[in-house]
Amino acid sequence: MKNQSKWWQSAVFYQIYPRSFADGNGDGIGDLKGIIQKLDYLQNLGIDAIWLSPHFPSPYVDCGYDVSDYRGVAPEYGTMEDFKEFLRGAHGRGIRVVLDLVLNHTSDQHTWFQESRMDKTNPKRDWYIWKSTENGEPPNNWYSTFGGSAWELDPVTNEYYYHYFFKEQPDLNWKNPEVWEAMFNEARFWLDMGVDGFRLDAVGTIFEDERYENRPETMTQEGLFRLSHEAKNDEMNAEVLKYWMEMFHRQVDQPEVHQVTRELRKVIDEYDDRVLIGETDDIAFYGDNNNELHLNFNFPLMRTPKISAEHVRNNQKTRLAALASWAWPCNTFGNHDSARVFTNYGDGKNNELQARLYIMLLLTLKGTPFLYNGEEIGMSDLAISDPKLFRDPLGTLFYGWAKSELGLSEDEAIQVGASRGRDKCRTPMQWKNEVNGGFSPAGVNPWLQVNIDYSSGINVADQVKNPDSLFSFYQRALNLRKKSKALTLGEFELIAVQPKDVLYYTRTFENEVVSILLNMDSKPQSIILNPKVNIKKVLLTNTQKIEEGTLKRMTLLPYHGIVFI
Ligand code: GLC
Repeated sequence: MKNQSKWWQSAVFYQIYPRSFADGNGDGIGDLKGIIQKLDYLQNLGIDAIWLSPHFPSPYVDCGYDVSDYRGVAPEYGTMEDFKEFLRGAHGRGIRVVLDLVLNHTSDQHTWFQESRMDKTNPKRDWYIWKSTENGEPPNNWYSTFGGSAWELDPVTNEYYYHYFFKEQPDLNWKNPEVWEAMFNEARFWLDMGVDGFRLDAVGTIFEDERYENRPETMTQEGLFRLSHEAKNDEMNAEVLKYWMEMFHRQVDQPEVHQVTRELRKVIDEYDDRVLIGETDDIAFYGDNNNELHLNFNFPLMRTPKISAEHVRNNQKTRLAALASWAWPCNTFGNHDSARVFTNYGDGKNNELQARLYIMLLLTLKGTPFLYNGEEIGMSDLAISDPKLFRDPLGTLFYGWAKSELGLSEDEAIQVGASRGRDKCRTPMQWKNEVNGGFSPAGVNPWLQVNIDYSSGINVADQVKNPDSLFSFYQRALNLRKKSKALTLGEFELIAVQPKDVLYYTRTFENEVVSILLNMDSKPQSIILNPKVNIKKVLLTNTQKIEEGTLKRMTLLPYHGIVFI
């Protein structure tokens, strides 16, 4: 692996959520022209690859993850020519482009579904999962993970269709080989154009248990919502997970999925050097002999209320030990479905310092890092205070349940909707200290509310020119990583150190050894290093420079990190 490393092993990926990244034509919605204008910015930041969230035509019920044409470009994002210009522009700057491929479902507006629903004998009928019942009730009591029954009665033929997500996202029937062929051809369309691979959306949901047996009625979805709202410790969280599994295990992670990922890998291997990334943390998706997905996210790393040293150590020990020698790790702290790093892990007092510490961690762990647009300037979650301004239907769902199931007041329910919905992390990118954060011109209402903290330094223009900004720190950290074989491809070794809140590890590639020492706590930590450790050079630190030389005892400041050789 050392000698023939792949580009995606040393690359840093940057996720662009197109609707919110850059509004090139000033209509309030991000677009491809906007992204093209920001390619220099991305190159200057120092990322190597873009994961573009869906840019396809979509009625936008699930914010683009309801695709109505896999070969198109959403008209509000531009044209196919714009896409090609974007791809050329990115490649011209040495930046790869990975698209989002939604395999499990299409939009109900996709022509495949429109044909499928027309009549029971339509050639595309069997492309989706249709069932009739004698009593008129849904075929079973399965839930959609986005609320309510997983079955929708379609009046055209009086049969139910299955949807794991919203009812506007009917599941494709992957038991039908025509679906495989059609979807793989959609993938080839973009591969032929030169895109560098795919992030596979919700890959674990492609098949269902074909027995379609009822789930036990021990818990309702509303009850589980209540339980998860009340869960304040690990024990209760474990209980929530247990009920969730009982509720959904017939609908996710069925063994047949691996047939699809194996076949898709063959498709990808028809091309030179492309990559497949799974939206899953199940390491089984690496395959049994490097024959499925190249990368699967280490989501357990980010599923914690606090990124403590202990959590990271346990996570790394478990994850790395579980991976086959050829399987490459992949780490992230945020995406368009989760709370932002800055809000999620910040203690409220040291958020910026912590953000610097966590990017040091992410860029020095073994594995491919994924960043989410806006984190480099410290964008935080926005608590939208008017439910009419929610754009993610999940926000609206949870807001309703907070009132009906938890009996919360209007204001409290809005807070629940805003924090459990996903608009919070999808707000427009803050480019300047100007109206709308410089995302859209004055007088235009961006599609989703802008966080007004753009006026207090959380914007690109101010940070790019300030060498002490979070942006500049990201840039330095990315540059350091890029130059170091140890930090990109090196072996990872945890070093024992006291106290337990300090994380200490090395990355080694041939003769290059880089050490990383991170105080993951809000208190200063006095540590004693092995007398043989000689700090020749501090490569990066997020607070103050440590004196170089042989140090036996040193004090790390709160959330202090150093990378040294
Ligand atoms: C994935 C996406 C999420 C979407 C869902 C259904 O989890 O990341 O945004 O809602 O799949 O497509």
